[in-house]
Amino acid sequence: MSRDLAGTGQGRITDAAQVVSAYDRWAPVYDLAFTAVMRAGRKAAVAAVAEVTGRILDVGVGTGLELPMFPSTAHVVGIDLAEAMLRRAGERVRRGPLPHVAGLAVMDATRMAFPDSSFDAAIAPFVLTVVPDPASLMDEIARVVRPGGAIVLVNHFGAERGPLVPIEAWLGKHSASLGWHPQFPFRVLGDWIAGRADVALVDRKPVAPVGLFTVVRLRKAG
Ligand SMILES: C[S@@+](CC[C@H](N)C(=O)[O-])C[C@H]1O[C@@H](n2cnc3c(N)ncnc32)[C@H](O)[C@@H]1O
Repeated sequence: MSRDLAGTGQGRITDAAQVVSAYDRWAPVYDLAFTAVMRAGRKAAVAAVAEVTGRILDVGVGTGLELPMFPSTAHVVGIDLAEAMLRRAGERVRRGPLPHVAGLAVMDATRMAFPDSSFDAAIAPFVLTVVPDPASLMDEIARVVRPGGAIVLVNHFGAERGPLVPIEAWLGKHSASLGWHPQFPFRVLGDWIAGRADVALVDRKPVAPVGLFTVVRLRKAG
């Protein structure tokens, strides 16, 4: 299983403190900067679990931009490492009505307090390329999702060719201050899936804008 982030540049994120520091800085302007550009990805992730009647975990819920997209009959628990981001999600829930949000908690998704198989599904929009150790994040998500449950990720994966390559290479030098790895290769996730006998790739589909992001659906063996 690949735990390295080869190709993610000199500025790679090495610990949780860097993540918190980056998202403490982003929190006041996050919605302004990232509501529109990532909307289609969030919608696609939520749509992928729309039929789930049980408990859904929203990993790295951030300011809660995807929370209003769930059906009001859902049962969603959101966690995030950065308190400043989660505080905004809490304000969104209080403004409501978001009756389907069962709880929000500050928690490290690579070391969750939930018992095994606590959730029927998990979504993680725009989180995989943020964490220093993506394999640990995926191991933990797979642990807390029940057998047969769905895991849905949305992310930008590093371009393999074209004009984005040099732009991502430059941005990659600033990963720690940006708060994500712009060059994150899909291979890191592919290697993780290949190393897990109990998790299968259902599909991966590009989403707007212009296929910049990819929705990845995984299924834990039943
Ligand atoms: C790019 S934001 C995405 C937020 C939200 N899902 C969205 O679509 O706008 C990434 C979020 O993941 C959170 N995060 C990063 N590492 C985490 C970890 N180990 N555990 C929980 N949350 C984490 C960050 O604090 C941040 O709020």
